[in-house]
Amino acid sequence: MLKLESITAGYGELTVLSELNIVVNKGETVCLIGPNGAGKSTVLRVVAGQLLPTKGKVLFNNQDISRTDCTHKIEQGILFVPQGRNVFPSLSLLENLNLCQIFISESLFQERLDTVLTTFPWMKEKLHSPAGSLSGGLRQMLALSRIFLLKPKLVLLDEPSLGLSPLVVDDIFSTISTLNQQGISFLLVEQNARKGLSVANRGYVLESGQNRLTGSGQELLVNSEVTRLYLGG
Ligand SMILES: Nc1ncnc2c1ncn2[C@@H]1O[C@H](COP(=O)(O)OP(=O)(O)OP(=O)(O)O)[C@@H](O)[C@H]1O
Ligand SMILES: [Mg+2]
Repeated sequence: MLKLESITAGYGELTVLSELNIVVNKGETVCLIGPNGAGKSTVLRVVAGQLLPTKGKVLFNNQDISRTDCTHKIEQGILFVPQGRNVFPSLSLLENLNLCQIFISESLFQERLDTVLTTFPWMKEKLHSPAGSLSGGLRQMLALSRIFLLKPKLVLLDEPSLGLSPLVVDDIFSTISTLNQQGISFLLVEQNARKGLSVANRGYVLESGQNRLTGSGQELLVNSEVTRLYLGG
C-alpha cells in the first residue's frame, strides 16, 4: 500500500534520511522506533507531504505521491496526526470536529459524528468547551476522532502516548487496535517501544535516518538489541 523507495530527505544542509526503504502493507500497523533525532517524525512528514524528499519515491497504491500536497493526500486517504499540538486549542471540540466537513458530505459527517460520540461518550458534555481545556489524554482522543470521521486508508501517527498516564495509554492503543481491525492501516512512531511493537504487525528500528533492524512486532520485542536499547531490559 505504502512504499518508501530509497528516500533521502532533510532540512536545508542537514540530511536526515538516507536512502530509506519502508513498506506498509494493506491492513498492517507498522511501528517505527529509534533514538531521539533518528528521523522518525521526518519519515511521517515526508509521507504526509510536509517535506519534499530530495531523492527517492513515495508510492501509495503504486502511484507516485512524492510531490502531492497534504490536502490531496487526505483526499487520497492518508491522514497525518502529528506529535503534540494536534488539535486547535481555542476552538471548541465540535468546531475541531467540524473541520473534517471539508472532506466529507454533511450526512456522512453526522452519521460518523454519532459513532465518535458513542465511542467517546465523555465528549457529549464537552462539545462546546475549548479543546485547550481538555487533559492531554482527552486531547489525543479528540485528535484520533478525525480517523473515525474521515475513514482514511492509512494513518500516520506520531507519538500518540507521549506524556500520558499508563491507563490513558492503554485506551489510546485499544482505539488504534479497533480502528486497525476495521481495515485502517497505521504507520506509527512510538517512544513506548513495548506498547508500539506489541500492537504492530511489523516494526523498523531507525538509526541516523537508516534502517537498522526490521522484523515482525513479536520478533523485535524479543530481539536482544531492541530489548537492551529500547525496552530497558
Ligand atoms: N524543522 C526542522 N528544521 C531543522 N532540523 C530539523 C527540523 N525538524 C527536525 N530537525 C532535525 O532532524 C533530525 C531528525 O528529527 P526528527 O524529528 O525526524 O527525529 P525523531 O526521530 O522524530 O526524534 P524524536 O524521538 O525526538 O521525536 C534531528 O536532528 C532534528 O534536530
Ligand atoms: Mg519525533
